Order: sequence, then structure tokens, then C-alpha cells
Amino acid sequence: MGNGIAHVFAQSGYNVTLVDVQKEQLERATSTIEKNLARMVKKEKISEADKQATLDRVSTSTELKSGVADSRLVVEAVNEQFELKKKIFQQLDEATSADAILATNTSSISVTKIGAVTSRPDKVIGMHFFNPVPVMKLVEVVSGLDTSKEVTETITSLSEKLGKSPVPVNDYPGFVSNRVLMPMINEAIYAVYEGVAEPEHIDEVMKLGMAHPMGPLRLADFIGLDVCLDILRVLHDGFGDPKYRPCPLLIKMVDAGKLGDKTGQGFYSY
Ligand code: 3HC
Repeated sequence: MGNGIAHVFAQSGYNVTLVDVQKEQLERATSTIEKNLARMVKKEKISEADKQATLDRVSTSTELKSGVADSRLVVEAVNEQFELKKKIFQQLDEATSADAILATNTSSISVTKIGAVTSRPDKVIGMHFFNPVPVMKLVEVVSGLDTSKEVTETITSLSEKLGKSPVPVNDYPGFVSNRVLMPMINEAIYAVYEGVAEPEHIDEVMKLGMAHPMGPLRLADFIGLDVCLDILRVLHDGFGDPKYRPCPLLIKMVDAGKLGDKTGQGFYSY
């Protein structure tokens, strides 16, 4: 999601530094931003000059320390693993100025828990974007237990400046979005597992009967089955309620490396 987040900030006039440990990921991210901007030029939504100006505002770095040294805001979008986020936030705490806001695009991990590994939990907040980031209007603004009111207000008004619709939520597992979405996806996977219907028929029911733009299994592939499993585990651990137990079929598909769009195979082939 990092490339989409960089895209919307740059298109709204902010200078952005994309940071990743791998140079190839940064090249892939910038070429995705270029491709998505080119599509907007083709549809006459922006001009060629806008596209170039947006790209000129995006720089890249494989060094976290120098990449964020001058940043007023950092939006972290690494994998949904708490230990990894902990390491990154400890580094960000040291590398940024004391008044910088540290936001996380986490899908479900506790913002409070992430904030607690830093010396500034009042300036740690969830800024949860949705895929595809340039298209989806929602930003879930997640306040941790210690997030200050000022920081929540800053991120809310910043989200509006990005052309998004911020929605305030409190910090509980899965927030609102994934607490509601993931049980639906998990139940659709149980329906495959129990032989209720084929994946395309389950998706057809939800698309034609409930007007969802994508069925839950197509959406699970789009999000990434590994990400869905990580989020379900956070819900399961966080609430201790068996209603969130991940379907064994989901676990098996992740074990097999069938992660959806990004590996070319999930509930569908790509
Ligand atoms: N990047 C940028 N723009 C994109 C894009 C992408 N990857 N994919 C599609 N678009 C744009 C198209 O250019 C088009 O723009 P236009 O309306 O200005 O012409 C618009 O999106 C619609 O695209 P298409 O006509 O090609 O295709 P669809 O009408 O099928 O829409 C979709 C594609 C927007 C992805 C739609 O299927 C959809 O809304 N799906 C559901 C997405 C969703 O639920 N996302 C949330 C996932 S959960 C999440 O992210 C949270 C995390 O924590 C798990």
C-alpha cells in the first residue's frame, strides 16, 4: 500500500520520501505510481504536467535514518507483524525530530501497543488507508489510548486535504473496518471449505445480492490471503473469542504460498 499512500500525498502537493530496505521494491513502487498517474492523464483527470510534478515530489531511500530525518509525518506500511513494527517505530523514534507524528497504516495491530514502544505515544496514531489507495475514499483515523487530541485533529484535517473522508475510531482489534470485513471473508472461506458453493458462486451471491463491487473471495485475493490471516489472528488473540478463528482452508492456502493476486494464485488464478 506504500506506493498508493505516497501517490496521494504527492498528488496533493506534499514532498514524499518512500523508504524500503530493497531498491527493487522502491523501483516497483515508483513505476506503479507512474502507471496509475498515466491512467489518470489518459482519462483527462490530470494533465501531463500534474503527473510530472507529482512524480518530482516523490524521492526514494533505502536508508531509514536519512530518509525520515526531515519528515514532519511518517506513515509506516510494513507487514502486519508486531515485532517488525516495533523495530521500525523504535528506529523512527530515534531518527525523527521530537515533534514529528508517527502514523501506522496497520490493518489491525494495536496503535496503543505500537505507541508504547516509542518515547512519544501521544504522537503515534493509526492512519488506515484502503486499497486501491488512490481510489478508496476512507481513512480510518485510529486514536490509541495516549494519542493526543491535537494529533488526531491534525491527521483528520490532513486526510481531508488528501481528498479522503476520515472516520474517527478507537483502538480495539481490527478497528471497525477489519472487525466487520474479516469475519465476512472468513465465513465465505468456510463456505468453500464446507462445500456450500464454488468460490465464483459465493462471490456472485454477494455481488448480485448485496451489491458488493467484489465478492469476498475475490477481495481476499486482492488484499492478500496472508494479510487476511494475520488480521484474523489479531482479532482471535485480541478478543479471545472463537468466532474469529481462521478457517483451516485459509491457513492451508497461506502455508502453500497461494496468497492471491501477488503470487498469481489464490481462490482464483491470475
Ligand atoms: N490504482 C489506482 N486506480 C485504480 C486501481 C489501482 N490499483 N484499480 C482501479 N483503479 C481506478 C480505475 O482507474 C477507475 O478509475 P475511474 O473511475 O476514474 O475511471 C476506478 O478505479 C474503477 O476501476 P475499474 O473500472 O477498472 O474497475 P472496477 O469498477 O471494477 O473497480 C475497484 C475496481 C475500485 C478495485 C472496485 O472493484 C472496488 O471498489 N473493489 C473493492 C475494493 C475494496 O473493498 N477495498 C478495500 C480492501 S480492504 C483494505 O484495503 C484494508 C486492509 O486493512 C485489508
